[in-house]
Order: sequence, then C-alpha cells, then structure tokens
Amino acid sequence: MAKSLITGGAGFIGSHLAEALVERGDEVVVLDDLSTGKRANLDAVAGQVRLVVGSVTDRDLVLECCQGVDVVYHEAALASVPRSVADPLASNEANVAGTLTVLWAAHRQGVRRVVYAASSSAYGDTEVLPKREDMLASPLSPYAVSKYVGELYCAVFTRLYGLSTIGLRYFNVFGPRQDPHSQYAAVVPIFITRLLRNEPPVIDGDGGQSRDFTYVRNVVQANLLAGAARDPGGVTVNVACGESITLNDLFQEIKALTGATVDATHGPARAGDVRHSQADIGRAGQILGYRPQVGFAQGLKETVAWYGQSTGSDVRVDV
Ligand SMILES: NC(=O)c1ccc[n+]([C@@H]2O[C@H](COP(=O)([O-])OP(=O)(O)OC[C@H]3O[C@@H](n4cnc5c(N)ncnc54)[C@H](O)[C@@H]3O)[C@@H](O)[C@H]2O)c1
Repeated sequence: MAKSLITGGAGFIGSHLAEALVERGDEVVVLDDLSTGKRANLDAVAGQVRLVVGSVTDRDLVLECCQGVDVVYHEAALASVPRSVADPLASNEANVAGTLTVLWAAHRQGVRRVVYAASSSAYGDTEVLPKREDMLASPLSPYAVSKYVGELYCAVFTRLYGLSTIGLRYFNVFGPRQDPHSQYAAVVPIFITRLLRNEPPVIDGDGGQSRDFTYVRNVVQANLLAGAARDPGGVTVNVACGESITLNDLFQEIKALTGATVDATHGPARAGDVRHSQADIGRAGQILGYRPQVGFAQGLKETVAWYGQSTGSDVRVDV
C-alpha cells in the first residue's frame, strides 16, 4: 500500500486530494495547522486518514510525518494574494520556509517524489497569452514571490540532492468546500454564496480581468498523475482548463444558474492582481498525460449545486 503525505490536506484542494487517495487505497497522512483549513473538510474520509495538527515549518514534526512516505503532496500555504500584501512575513514563513522544510525532510527520509502546489501568479502580467512555462516569471505580490521561490527550491533539490520533484502551477481553482467566508476568500465562492441569497457581489475593478478557472477535480487528477509519472526532473507544468473567462462573464453565468435578479456592484481594483490569465496546458499533456476532465461550465454547475445544498438554499441546479 502506498503511503502519501498531504500537507495542507484539511484545506480546500488538499481535502479533495485526500478523498481521491483514500479511494485509490493509499495510506494517507495529513499535516495541517488548521489556519485556514478545517477538520470538517475531511469528514468524508474521517477514520481513513491520520490528521496531524501542526505546521510545515516545524522540522521535527515534518521529519516524523515524512517517515515511510512514498509521495508528499505539498499543498500547505497561506494561499491568498491580499493576505500576503497585508502580512508578507507570515506568507513568507508558511510558504517559503514551509516548502524548504518539507523538501529538506522529504530528502532526509528518502521520499520518492514531492508534488508541489505552485501558482499561476508566478507569471504576473505577461503580454502574451496563453501563458507557457518557458516564459519569464514576474511575480506581482509577496504571495506570488513565495510560491515561485518554492518552485525554485524544488528544482534545486532535484538537481542538488536528486530528490524527485514536480511543480504544478494551478490556475484559479474552484469547487465545493472552497471557503466563502474568509476575509481573503476567492471570487467563485463569494459570488455563488451571495447570489444564492440574491445579494449583489462586489466585482473588484471593471470586471474585464480574466481567469482560467479550473475545477478542482482536474487539479486532483493532475496530482495523481504527477505522483505516478516517470521522474519529471524538477520541472513545473501548468494545471488549468485552457479557457479564459472574465469576472463579468463569471458573474453572469452564476446569476443564470442561481436565478438571482440582482446586479453586481464594482469596487476598486485589487493591489497585486494580474489582468489576464490563461494557460497553455500542452506541457502537462506531454509530461503527465493531463487533459482536463471537467470543463468550466460543468464544474461551475456542480459547484453551484453543492453550495445550494450545503447552505440550505431553495435553489436547485441539475448537474
Ligand atoms: N485555490 C487556488 O486557486 C490556488 C491556485 C494556485 C495555487 N494554489 C495553491 O494550492 C494550495 C492549496 O490551496 P487551497 O486553495 O486549497 O487553500 P486552503 O487555504 O484551503 O488550503 C491551504 C491549507 O494549508 C494549511 N496551512 C497553511 N499554513 C500552514 C502551515 N504553516 N502548516 C501546515 N498547514 C498550513 C491551511 O490550514 C489549509 O488547510 C496552496 O499551496 C496554494 O498556494 C491554490
């Protein structure tokens, strides 16, 4: 039986990955400090994963968690651009020192592979779309810097110590269980939960900014492929849908799905935000055999349906 460690496994993406790994028959350990994650996110696999509450910056604890592990899926991070703008030291500690500690411990314990949750924010505002991995990184926020540094550390650990690593640059992941309440919540759960109550969401800026919104099941698939692939040699690949949706369009789609009648209001543009983001997913196809299994429209339907049910809303969406 393969043994997997998911750091940040009580978070949004990590908990979906935990379910998939348990379903596949892995022994799963989750290391999470519950700073943004929740025990309840692991309810579906309660009793089937071992949850260790602690930080990825705690060397002894991470060493212990890596014992006997085949693959580490490193999802733990303070995963927010505005949060990093407000408190860059905390983001650096969790994301940079945390990633370094995980790599160090994985190497010391002879872990076979580290799969790292990288971020499309590393690209910043490139003029050319879609964004390809051979483009120069140009981070615009402390968060983006910290996630990019993690990629560099992965590549260095591969080159220097022979630790097998791969970075997956996720593009705007969405799906069930993404936290809509945090002060730093992502746009999809905020729009959905507000529109389910027929309350107008605030769109930052003019709403013309676009994103390659990626349903969480595709990200789980990419992680499973990355854990099993022949040695990827410390590369980074984009994980996305390859589509481009503006925030104004996102709003309209959710409004239609929820049957809301309100209009959005517009606030100031957010500091550190990129204008357009769309991925070239060719390299993930070549290296991992990755093809998104769930498109944006279907993923959005499933997500709205889930929030509808979990918030006790009258809105029902056929998926
Ligand atoms: N959601 C996205 O759109 C997106 C896009 C690109 C990259 N990512 C990356 O994917 C990963 C998962 O993001 P998410 O959206 O699931 O966010 P999330 O906040 O739901 O999950 C992050 C998890 O890490 C945990 N954590 C934070 N600091 C920790 C620490 N010091 N020690 C142990 N655990 C810690 C949190 O409690 C949480 O459970 C992050 O690394 C993030 O940077 C996410």
